Amino acid sequence: MEILQIVLASRPLGIPSVSNFRIEKTALNDLNDGEVLLKSWYISVDPYMRGRMNSVKSYAASFEVDKPIKGAVVARIIDSKSSSFSTGDIVVGTLPWATYTVDKAENLRKVDTVKVSPGYYLGILGMPGFTAYIGMMDICKPVKGETVVVSGAAGAVGIVAGQLAKIHGAKVIGIAGSDEKCRSLKEQFGYDDAINYNTSKLLRKEIAVLCPEGIDVYFDNVGGEITEAVVANLDFHARIALCGQISQYNNSKPALGYTILPHLLTRSVMLQGFIVSNYSNRFGEALTQLTQWLNEGKLKYAETIIEGFDKLPEAFLGLFSGKNIGKMMVKVD
Ligand SMILES: NC(=O)c1ccc[n+]([C@@H]2O[C@H](COP(=O)([O-])OP(=O)(O)OC[C@H]3O[C@@H](n4cnc5c(N)ncnc54)[C@H](OP(=O)(O)O)[C@@H]3O)[C@@H](O)[C@H]2O)c1
Repeated sequence: MEILQIVLASRPLGIPSVSNFRIEKTALNDLNDGEVLLKSWYISVDPYMRGRMNSVKSYAASFEVDKPIKGAVVARIIDSKSSSFSTGDIVVGTLPWATYTVDKAENLRKVDTVKVSPGYYLGILGMPGFTAYIGMMDICKPVKGETVVVSGAAGAVGIVAGQLAKIHGAKVIGIAGSDEKCRSLKEQFGYDDAINYNTSKLLRKEIAVLCPEGIDVYFDNVGGEITEAVVANLDFHARIALCGQISQYNNSKPALGYTILPHLLTRSVMLQGFIVSNYSNRFGEALTQLTQWLNEGKLKYAETIIEGFDKLPEAFLGLFSGKNIGKMMVKVD
């Protein structure tokens, strides 16, 4: 059996490229008691992985050069020396970018892929969905009649965040990078309106036209100039959930953030950053609630699935040029 893995070949400076990754053959350890043999099925690519390609200290350890990239994977159990799992079970866990791997059963969670699409455990019923849930329910807390703006609105987190605000009766405006994404936000995901920041001539003005009474809530996935344009339109006592800053992840030097601070001060804005892994005690609640809303048809989701293990680096890089609608992932077989 040929086993392939993808390792970090070198640390990128600025925008990463496929040359920062290397695909190689590997061998598997024998199964010990309490371990299972896994065949990867769907592998997640996520923006946070860009930070882990650097060597700087952060909330999570860096990837090591010449070692496999690790992330969320939905996998099938091929062999088991654990009483918790049987051959054929489908599980989700943090696993290497590899076609097969051996791991401890305790690191894995069994999932139902009969009623639920397997990729959903990497998206709406996984880390990105939980992020939208925590950011919107705990920090933004939108109520009926408020105006909510979501940047990165057509991505894995953003699609869910906007719909959660709609469920709570808010008017929701999305900001995304193409007309196709903006159309889907309105036609499929219930957004009231959406702006394509790539074709907008003056984003601040366009936002002002769509939000004449000011913005009460901003769910920020991207940072940078988009955030400056949104912040200029915030109402007094607005709330910001600082979820992501993808527009800044490939910068070799940090951009200055001072332009937004005077607005935050004079409008008494509450801004809170958050890291979803610090809310693991709430994942059960988030999973139950998101599943219920999915089953009731109140939430919809989208996936961009790229076929082929060797396409992982390309899929990951595609996140930085907006190649995905909803959750980006790679189907291995
Ligand atoms: N705080 C947490 O715990 C947590 C957890 C998960 C994710 N996040 C963050 O949340 C954000 C969204 O994550 P996700 O998984 O949902 O990713 P995603 O939105 O599915 O994929 C990234 C998207 O970002 C947009 N983008 C890329 N470069 C951009 C730029 N320079 N300016 C504006 N938009 C850009 C692209 O869409 P367009 O076509 O619209 O440009 C792209 O599709 C990321 O910043 C991520 O790091 C935070």
